[in-house]
Amino acid sequence: MKLHKSQLLPLIPHYSLETPLNWDVIFEQKAPVDVEIGFGQGEFLLQQAKDNPTRNFCGIEILWERVAKTLNHITPKDKRKPCLSNVRILRCDAWIALDRLINIKSVDNFYSLFPCPWPKKKHLKYRLFSNDFLKLINSRLNDNGRFMMVTDAAYFYDWVLEQSPNTGFSVQKKVIDPQFATKFEKKWLNEGQNKFFQVEFIKNKHVDVPVKENVEVKSFKLDSFDPDGFCFEDYKDDITVICKEIIFDPGRQKANVHLIVSEEHLTQNIRVAIYKKGDYWRLCLAEGQEYFPTEGVNRAIELVYHAAS
Ligand SMILES: C[S@@+](CC[C@H](N)C(=O)[O-])C[C@H]1O[C@@H](n2cnc3c(N)ncnc32)[C@H](O)[C@@H]1O
Repeated sequence: MKLHKSQLLPLIPHYSLETPLNWDVIFEQKAPVDVEIGFGQGEFLLQQAKDNPTRNFCGIEILWERVAKTLNHITPKDKRKPCLSNVRILRCDAWIALDRLINIKSVDNFYSLFPCPWPKKKHLKYRLFSNDFLKLINSRLNDNGRFMMVTDAAYFYDWVLEQSPNTGFSVQKKVIDPQFATKFEKKWLNEGQNKFFQVEFIKNKHVDVPVKENVEVKSFKLDSFDPDGFCFEDYKDDITVICKEIIFDPGRQKANVHLIVSEEHLTQNIRVAIYKKGDYWRLCLAEGQEYFPTEGVNRAIELVYHAAS
């Protein structure tokens, strides 16, 4: 879906903002903030924002196609301004959003409707609402804050309930009727399911999970550089760094190294540049990239330095 520039206004430019995010900088009005995780096409998020103009709403969604559909609803193509001013979108993985972007005790309510239940055993590791993630949600909630999750899958409901001990929440569960009118609720209704499982987590004790901080990104100087001698060994430890390719432009005396860096829940594609500068070669992150400055990024830069030395 092609969007007009003005339709991108509700997107939070999280790579270029100071972290943790300051809601007062992001929203026009100073107001309590609710966050929806995995909002899909945004039906519930936008309805909530419409119904509660004195609150702010932030939606987190990883898939661009769904984000684009939601942005298209926030600002119809013929309008120059969003028709909802109290909603913002974080296009990001929810783990990363909570771990690195959202501040401690800064959210009143989290919601997640019909999150992916990952039914296959080999995919269990992808389930989001683990004990650790519930602790993360707790730490980002204000005192007495709540997290409400609704699922169509009984086995996933049981699994989430098993994850809840020692997460600082009291838990209320109930079977509910359809009421959210989201794409997935409608899908299950069409398939004949008309009862869903709701879990409400009510914060009764604060669990401290610090916000992950950005690191200062390293750069190096090399006396000389021979692209034919570049020898990178993929690195696998707590951090994984894989070199996808190196391209050298002899005319510009510039190499570009493409790497994939994985650490905890975060995988990033980064590019490291090595280019001639006067009588030395500079080795640093290539310009114009969007990335989280992490230990993994620095490890990758160090490894490129060793491979180029
Ligand atoms: C089954 S759909 C439900 C969508 C919507 N809530 C609804 O009821 O129609 C789950 C949504 O969560 C999103 N999602 C899955 N994992 C995510 C993650 N780690 N971070 C952010 N969004 C995620 C998916 O892209 C998808 O849009």
